[in-house]
Amino acid sequence: MTAQPTDPTDPPLDPYRLPRLVLPQRYGLSIAPDLERALFQGSVNIAVTVRQSTAVIVLNALDLTISSITAADDRGRTLAGVCTLDQKAERCHLTFPEPLAPGDWTLSLDFHGGMNDQLRGLYRSTYTDDTGTVRHLAVTQFEATDARRAFPCWDEPDLKARFALTLIIDPALTALSNTAPLSEEIQEGRKIVRFAETITMSTYLLAFVVGQLEGSEPVYVGRTPIRLWAVPKKTHLMQVGRDIAAASLRFFEDYYGMPYPGDKLDLIAIPDFSHGAMENLGAVTFRERALLIDEAAASQGELEDLANVVSHENAHMWFGDLVTMAWWNGIWLNEAFATFMEALAVQEWKPEWQPLRMFLTSRASALSVDGLNSSRPVEYPVRDPKDAAGMFDVLTYHKGAVVLRMLEQFIGETLFRDGIRDYLKTHAYANAETEDLWASIGTVAGLPVSALMNGWIFLAGYPLLTVRRDGPSHLLLTQQRFRYLTPEPAASGQAPQAESLWQVPVHLQVRAGGRERSHKFVLAEATMRLAIPEDFESLIVNEGGHGFYRVRYEPDLFDRLQARLPDQLSSTDRFTLINDAWALCQAGLAPIASYLDLTTRFRDERDRHVWGLILESFGLLNQLIEATDRSSFSRLVQDRVQPAVSDLGWNPRKGEDGLTGQLRGDLIEALGTLGEDRTAQARAKSLYNGLPGNGGGIDPNLLPALVSIVAYTGEAPEYERFVHRFKQAATPQEERRYLFSLAAFRPKPLIARTLDSTLNGDVRTQDAPALLGALLGNVEAREMTWTFIKRHWETMERLFPPVGLRRMCGAVVNLATPELERDVRTFFTERRLDFGGKLAQQYLERLRIVVQWRERESEALRRYLRPFSMQSTTMRDSH
Ligand code: BES
Ligand code: ZN
Repeated sequence: MTAQPTDPTDPPLDPYRLPRLVLPQRYGLSIAPDLERALFQGSVNIAVTVRQSTAVIVLNALDLTISSITAADDRGRTLAGVCTLDQKAERCHLTFPEPLAPGDWTLSLDFHGGMNDQLRGLYRSTYTDDTGTVRHLAVTQFEATDARRAFPCWDEPDLKARFALTLIIDPALTALSNTAPLSEEIQEGRKIVRFAETITMSTYLLAFVVGQLEGSEPVYVGRTPIRLWAVPKKTHLMQVGRDIAAASLRFFEDYYGMPYPGDKLDLIAIPDFSHGAMENLGAVTFRERALLIDEAAASQGELEDLANVVSHENAHMWFGDLVTMAWWNGIWLNEAFATFMEALAVQEWKPEWQPLRMFLTSRASALSVDGLNSSRPVEYPVRDPKDAAGMFDVLTYHKGAVVLRMLEQFIGETLFRDGIRDYLKTHAYANAETEDLWASIGTVAGLPVSALMNGWIFLAGYPLLTVRRDGPSHLLLTQQRFRYLTPEPAASGQAPQAESLWQVPVHLQVRAGGRERSHKFVLAEATMRLAIPEDFESLIVNEGGHGFYRVRYEPDLFDRLQARLPDQLSSTDRFTLINDAWALCQAGLAPIASYLDLTTRFRDERDRHVWGLILESFGLLNQLIEATDRSSFSRLVQDRVQPAVSDLGWNPRKGEDGLTGQLRGDLIEALGTLGEDRTAQARAKSLYNGLPGNGGGIDPNLLPALVSIVAYTGEAPEYERFVHRFKQAATPQEERRYLFSLAAFRPKPLIARTLDSTLNGDVRTQDAPALLGALLGNVEAREMTWTFIKRHWETMERLFPPVGLRRMCGAVVNLATPELERDVRTFFTERRLDFGGKLAQQYLERLRIVVQWRERESEALRRYLRPFSMQSTTMRDSH
C-alpha cells in the first residue's frame, strides 16, 4: 500500500502520530465534574488551522463519549460531523459531509466520561476529613498521554496551543488550574470559574484540581505569587515547601536569565497521586508527602526529598513547560535537566546539606542499570503510550542528569549556563531536540559538543576504563563497554557488533613525590598511553567522580590507591572506589573476598553516601546468602558497622549537622536488622517504648531506625501499634514511615495481613504497589509476596496506577534463588509483561546477574564468612 499523505482519509503512516493536516491553536474548554457520581461533562471549542482541505479530522480521545460535533469557519459556515472512536489507537475520527477548506475553523464538541480510580486522566481522589466524612477531589494527571482521557485533543507534545478553561463546580469547593481565575460567578446553584488563557503549551501540562482546598499565604518572587494548597487542616505543614518553592523559583529566574513564564504558581498536595509530583505550569501537583512536612519532626532525608521534588518541578517551568521535547524519545531533555537543576537550586538554598552529592548517588544507580545488556540509549524510539511511560526510568533521569553534569564540569559552569540560556531563548513556547541543545551549548562554548556528547545519549552502556602500568614510565588506559553479564553470542550469520567507543572526559590525578596533580583530557580511542613521573606513587582515574564510567585498576595500582584510605582520598573518591569495586565484583571481574576486605578500610568512614553504598551491598548479600550462613553474615555486618556506631553514639551531639544524624540512624538501623545485634535491638526497643505517645522528644533522624528495628524484631502487639500509628499519623512522613515499616515484620500471619491490606482498601493505591515491592525485599516475606502477586495479578492491573505496578515488578530482583528466578521468568513470559521500552528485560537481567553471582560466589562467600561463625568469633580480626 502506498500511503498518500496528501489524502486525508488515508491512515497516517504511524498509527501513534496524528496527521498534521489540521493543527490546534486554542482550546476553549469547559468541564463540569460531578464528584459524587464520579462523572464529568464537558464541551470544547477548538480553534484550528486547516492546512490542507480535508473531510476527516483525527485527534486523540479515550474512554470518552463524544456528541454534537460541528466545524464552523470564519464566514459563518457550519458543518455537522460524526465521530468514530478507535479505542486501540486512542483516537477519534471526525468525519464531515464535505471537506473543510484550508483556513481557520472552530471545532465544537460535547463529551462526557467517568472519573477513574487509576490516578490518571481526570480522576477522583478520596480522603476522610476530621469529622469522619468521606470527601472527594477531582484531579488531573495528564503526562504522558492521558489528557485524551479528559477531553478530545491533539495530545502530542509538539502540538502546542493555548487553553482557556472554565470549570463548573459545587459552590462550596475551590478550583485551581494553570492560570489565575478571571471570574467566578454563581449560576443556577453552580459556581462558574473562568481561568485566564494559558501560554502556548503542550496538552500534557494542562491541569486542574477541584475540592475543599486551603491555601497558604502567598509569597512573592518578583511579581509571581506562590501559594501552597492542601485539603483542610494542613496549612501548618507548608512552611518548608513554601521556602524552597520561593528559593528555587528565584534561583531559576536568575540561572535561566528569564522570568517565570506563568502568572502565578500554585503547589497543590493531593491525597491520591500516582507519581511524586507533576510540573503542570502554574499548578504543580504533588503527593502529600512531597509537599507537606513538619520541619521539627522530619528526618534529614525526608527534608531533602521534599526540597528536591519541589525544586525539580520548578525547574521544569522552563525546562519542559516553556521549551518542550518534540516527542517522547527526547523526554530526557525534560527529566534529566530538572534532575540536574534540582540539585543546583538546593545547593543555593542549603549548601550545608551537600545536595550536589546527589550526582554521586544518581551516577551509581544509573551505572547499575546501564551496565545491563538490556540497557538502552538515553534517547530511544517511542511508538505507543506504553513506550512513552516506560521512558521515565533511571536512565532518563539519572544517566541523563549525570552526563549533563559531566559536560558542565568539563566545559565549565558559566559556559554551560550560558548555553542553556541560549537554548531556552531560542526555543521558548516551542519544542526542541537533543541536537538543538548541543547546538546552543556548542556555539556558546566554541566546542564540538555533539561529538563529545552523542555517545552518552545515543549509545546504550558506558565504558570500563582499565588502567595498568606499561613499563616503568608509562600507563596504559583502555576503554571497553562495561557489562555485568557476558552477552549471548550473536545469532548465527549476524556479524558481531562492533564495540562502542565513547569520548570519555577523563580527570586523572597523579600523586608523585608526595604531591598531587590533576589532568583533564578526552580519551576518544580504545587505548591511550600516558607518561608518568619517575617518583610516581599512585593515581586516581575519574577524580571527583564526574565521569560516567567505571575504573578497573590493575592489582598493584589498586593496592597503592587502597593504601591511601581513609584520609588521603576525598569522600567523593572513596565513593567511586567502593562503588566500582562492588560492581566489578558483581561482574565477576574481582573476587568477593577482595570487596569484603576493602570494606574493612571503611570502619572510620563518616560520609553518609559512602556508607549508603556499603550498606546497600550488605543488603544485596543478605538477599542471596544461604540460610545457614546468615548468622555469620550478621557478625560480619556487626564487625564493619559497630565501630562507627560506638564512635557516633546513640545521641546527637551538640551542634552536629543533620547529615551526621542521618548517618547515625542509617548505621544503627543496619546494626539492628542486617547485623542482628541483640544489644542494639534491645536498646532500640526500650528507647522506642519510652517515647511519649506522640513520638516526640527524640532526634527525628534516629526515630526511623528505631521504627525499623522494632518492626524487624516485632510481633503482633508491635504490629497493631504500628498499624494504628499509620492510620492516626499527624504528618505524611509519619504515615509513610509506619506504613512501610509493616513490610519489615517477619511472622507469617503478620505478613499475610500486610499483603491483604494492599488490596482491601486499607492502603491507598498510590502506595500499595510500593509496599508489595518492599515486602519482596523482606527475605522472610518474599516468597509469600510473590505468590500473592501472581494470584492477584489481574486485580492489581485493574486497581494500581501503571507506574506503581511497573516499579513493584522491579523488586523481583530480590527473588534471588534459582527456583524463584525460573518462576519469575515463566510468569513474565506467560503474561507477556511489557512495561514499555526494555524495562521487563532489565528486571529479568538484574535477577539473572544476582542469581548467577550467587552460584558463582557462594562457596567463596561461605569460606570468607567462616571466621565469623559463632564458634570462632575471636578469629574475626584475621581479615
Ligand atoms: N514529569 C514528572 C512526573 C511524571 C512522570 C508524570 C511520568 C507522568 C509520567 C515529574 O517532573 C517528576 O519527575 N516527578 C518525580 C519526582 C522527581 C523529584 C524525580 C516523580 O514523580 O517520581
Ligand atoms: Zn520531572
